[in-house]
Amino acid sequence: MSESFVDLKVEEGIATVTINRPKSLNALSVEVLEQLGRVIKDLEKDDKVRAVIITGSGSKAFVAGADIAAMVSMTAQEARDYSIFAHKIFESIEQLPKPVIAAVNGYALGGGNELAMACDIRVASSTANFGQPEITLGIIPGFGGTQRLSRLVGKGKALELILTGKMIDAKTAESIGLVNVVVPPETLLETAKAIAEKIIAFSPLATAFAKEAVNRGLEMTLDQGCKYEIELWTDCFTTEDQDIGMTAFLNKQKPTFKGV
Ligand code: CAA
Repeated sequence: MSESFVDLKVEEGIATVTINRPKSLNALSVEVLEQLGRVIKDLEKDDKVRAVIITGSGSKAFVAGADIAAMVSMTAQEARDYSIFAHKIFESIEQLPKPVIAAVNGYALGGGNELAMACDIRVASSTANFGQPEITLGIIPGFGGTQRLSRLVGKGKALELILTGKMIDAKTAESIGLVNVVVPPETLLETAKAIAEKIIAFSPLATAFAKEAVNRGLEMTLDQGCKYEIELWTDCFTTEDQDIGMTAFLNKQKPTFKGV
């Protein structure tokens, strides 16, 4: 039986996915990516799961990157396949119609930062460090870093991180918009869970539409994105949850959304 590198725990509608390969600081080998991809696929189909938290095992690393030991002797074609495979899995995280929160417990470097950026919200431990150190290895980011980092923090900061390969601490990552919130390590998971709980109290349909509008909209011109928003906004009015939410507001009650 092959080794398990991805742990899954589901509690009260929130799945916690833990990358568990501590000997290599949770580096993303092909096996880790395969297992992560399978878990995300299963979570998409599982109606009981309303939100996902992704974290790393131990306190040292979230994910220290793609697996350098595996990459050192890759041919260009193998490297291409590795990149395409990782992109596919990260896209499945980004496009999951459920909120995904990265709980960054330590080093988020290279592919680790790229994994965190494929998530919707990043909560960081005050001990976490972030960076795209690929340049120090003679390569460039290959799991979405050149694209998602520049979209998140802007071109100047993205190029500074990518061209210098330097590491930044969690507070600096927060100050440039790479991280949403920084918390002490002992409250990392509870903070991620509290954010997930807040989101899953709302309509899952509205949550999915909102995620899609932002993510797909970013790939469009402003005009196209606004037109796309009109379509998804209109779709909200075909749901029972729209009636439930607005009627509850007008009756000064707390809504109980149904997801229909
Ligand atoms: N791949 C494979 N193994 C890794 C790894 C990685 N990305 N990062 C760490 N490890 C391994 C180390 O080789 C070491 O293994 P051994 O015990 O067998 O020697 C073990 O994890 C512990 O690491 P260190 O001894 O280096 O720990 P440290 O505390 O001295 O340093 C660190 C920690 C600063 C994170 C350092 O490990 C490091 O710089 N790691 C590499 C970070 C990196 O360059 N990531 C980008 C990879 S390329 C990439 O991700 C491309 C892409 O865009 C997809």
